Amino acid sequence: YDYDLLVVGSANADLVIGVERRPAAGETVLGSDLAVHPGGKGANQAVAAARLGARTALLARVGDDAHGRLLLDAQRAAGVGTVGVLVGGAPTGVALITVDPSGDNSIVVSPGANGRLAPEDVRAAQGLLHASRVVSAQLEIPLETVEEVVRNLPSGTRFVLNPSPPRPLPAEVLAACDPLIVNEHEARVIAGDELGGAPEDWARALLALGPRSVVVTLGAEGALVAADGSMTRVPSVKVDAVDTTGAGDAFTAALAWRLGTGAALPEAAAYAARVGAAAVTRPGAQESYPTAEEVEALCGAGLGDDPR
Ligand code: RIB
Ligand code: NA
Repeated sequence: YDYDLLVVGSANADLVIGVERRPAAGETVLGSDLAVHPGGKGANQAVAAARLGARTALLARVGDDAHGRLLLDAQRAAGVGTVGVLVGGAPTGVALITVDPSGDNSIVVSPGANGRLAPEDVRAAQGLLHASRVVSAQLEIPLETVEEVVRNLPSGTRFVLNPSPPRPLPAEVLAACDPLIVNEHEARVIAGDELGGAPEDWARALLALGPRSVVVTLGAEGALVAADGSMTRVPSVKVDAVDTTGAGDAFTAALAWRLGTGAALPEAAAYAARVGAAAVTRPGAQESYPTAEEVEALCGAGLGDDPR
């Protein structure tokens, strides 16, 4: 394989304003100076994996504009293969993000060019799919495009999906996921609102829909891994949150990469939890992602053994 990980997904310019609190409907609040960061769940995953040392490629679409160039530059600087980054068709996707003092964010995304990443773009990228050990995706691109990825997945290539932002998924997509990675909100949208109270119940309900394995992320509570007939809790790493934007993308990318190197799912999730924790200690998404050495340093600082 030429690539450890191929990420199929979105690239957005993140326009970020810090706020004391979010405005209610009809209200105006003043915030910090504007920061513009490269973001988007797909582009974030690609940078996160590359910073950890994975040979990574991105299949995405940006506009022929300044935001598109910002995103391409960030991918190249991180060492991500950009032959699959298509240019044009609509303005680059934009995410309007507010971050509050606790590090929590609210996001509105204008998909722009991400919405034009089409099934035919996936068919044209057969070579990339066949060159990649693991393929990961999210849902800031059209669902038909993700379906086309699943249909064109070479045998032996592993598929990882973080269905964010969530919507109900076709059986064909669910059956390909190994794992499906969801938080509580995503679990409820996909498995239905009648979900029981415990994460183990959500995992069981999701597994019944067909994915080969499920990871439920639980924020400060860590994660639950459901695979091979057993459920394993993975602890979180305690850090002071500065900005949680994109931490989930770093988690998914780290997990996907570790799976490709042969790690079992609980082990990959434990490593991913450390990567996600490191990412929340710094502002922004892509700029906050750790190298493998930084993840190790975080573990050495009394935050647990390096699970590798
Ligand atoms: O997951 C974080 C990302 O969501 C941000 O970078 C923003 O672009 C939105 O897509
Ligand atoms: Na961050």
